[in-house]
Amino acid sequence: EGVTSLQLKINGTVRTIQAEPRVTLLDALREYLDLTGTKKGCDHGQCGACTVHVDGRRINSCLTLAVMNQGKEITTIEGLAQGEALHPMQEAFLKHDGFQCGYCTPGQIMSGVACVKEGHASSDDQTREWMSGNLCRCGAYPNIVAAVREVAG
Ligand code: FES
Repeated sequence: EGVTSLQLKINGTVRTIQAEPRVTLLDALREYLDLTGTKKGCDHGQCGACTVHVDGRRINSCLTLAVMNQGKEITTIEGLAQGEALHPMQEAFLKHDGFQCGYCTPGQIMSGVACVKEGHASSDDQTREWMSGNLCRCGAYPNIVAAVREVAG
């Protein structure tokens, strides 16, 4: 398989990489662009650690090829803060201790932002359902839900 030139718009900036068409968006972010905030847990759609937003909707970046995401707006955890100001969801995770080891946290936060934005946080049960694809081995779930609740208002 040949290497091809891929253009990806990530956090508002177009980046070009030379990669094989079989490279996942997750590997493009981590291995080619050094955007390692997005985590690899399972690499097959089971854990949510790799959650990013594409055109405003959350996806598991391990389940999509980088080549399929050209021309789309990709947002990663690195793109959430505005300068020195953390995103309100990041602040809420800090305030409510929404993590222990932190490995799942970027994916949890990206899912939490989408949860509120897409209107799935009207109750804790709804939030838990929406967030059920984001696993946390440490069991920080109650605090994660509390963080989402706070941002949802
Ligand atoms: Fe993508 Fe687990 S690494 S869902």
